[in-house]
Amino acid sequence: MGTATARANANIAFIKYWGNRDDRLRLPANPSISMNLGGLFAETTVRWEENLTADSFGLNGKEDTGAGLTRVVAHLDVLRRRLDIAQFARVESRNNFPTGAGIASSAAAFAALTVAGAAAAGAQLSERELTTIARLGSGSASRSVPTGFVEWYAADAHEESYAESFGTPNTWDIVDVIAVVSKAHKPVGSSAGHQSANTSDLQTARVAGAEERLRQCKQAILNHDFAAFADVVEHDSNLMHAVMMTSRPPLFYWLPPTLMIMDSVRQWRADGLRVCYTLDAGPNVHCICVREDAAVVSERLRASSEVLDVLIAPPGDGAQVLTVSIP
Ligand code: PMV
Repeated sequence: MGTATARANANIAFIKYWGNRDDRLRLPANPSISMNLGGLFAETTVRWEENLTADSFGLNGKEDTGAGLTRVVAHLDVLRRRLDIAQFARVESRNNFPTGAGIASSAAAFAALTVAGAAAAGAQLSERELTTIARLGSGSASRSVPTGFVEWYAADAHEESYAESFGTPNTWDIVDVIAVVSKAHKPVGSSAGHQSANTSDLQTARVAGAEERLRQCKQAILNHDFAAFADVVEHDSNLMHAVMMTSRPPLFYWLPPTLMIMDSVRQWRADGLRVCYTLDAGPNVHCICVREDAAVVSERLRASSEVLDVLIAPPGDGAQVLTVSIP
């Protein structure tokens, strides 16, 4: 057993994952698609070692002994079972984006943990299998393993719910310009949110239309059709937030500046900029735009007193092993 370091980018979903058909296996209610966010990544080192008496986990240089460690241990258990490992591990992870900036870090984190953990054990797993293992840690992590533009399939069996790339980072020159409006930790995490999705009467309708929206979105990406893309991406984000707001108890992730920016984005598009919005389980607004319009979008966002920070990410690579050492 050895040591390996892997890097995985975060991702932004264009057709969202919300709600599971099986919570334990994180088998999603519907398929989803996303783009990896180049430059916004987690870097994770896993060291399997005979003399360790327990797993341990450091995040951004700080020892985590709480909920974070529990989730990491559960994921190491998955790797131990699959790879027949009897040892404990030391895990150290770092995000290069500002911690607490409200950028979902679990996708990058579990993709990097999966890829580093398998490499440190000397295992050569297929990309497909790595995506299914990453999925068990955090559903969206499955989409951070393959490169570029990625689809994650919904299915009833663990092996069938995997993710695969349908476009490289060069497929379309679009950029995610992220308006950070709050740096607070989200009040309700996505694992709890997925479990309450079915308490909304709207979830059945959202799921029923997801495949058709996915087909339209994929086609728009491959055809570089920004108008069609903007229409379906905003609609899909609105549908997910409608489900969240009508769940019991309700989940309101938007803040007043969130709505203000969504409004501005629609106005800018009407005025000719190729930009649209999408939101994850938080108040920050992902403004997706064509490369030529990214500078003016980010300038306008920065001019708003409600915007605390602006991060910019082009389409990114899949998860990569950076170093391996197996004595
Ligand atoms: O992977 P999770 O459990 O953090 O869920 C992610 C859910 C959303 O970010 C809201 C949507 C998505 O598809 O990424």
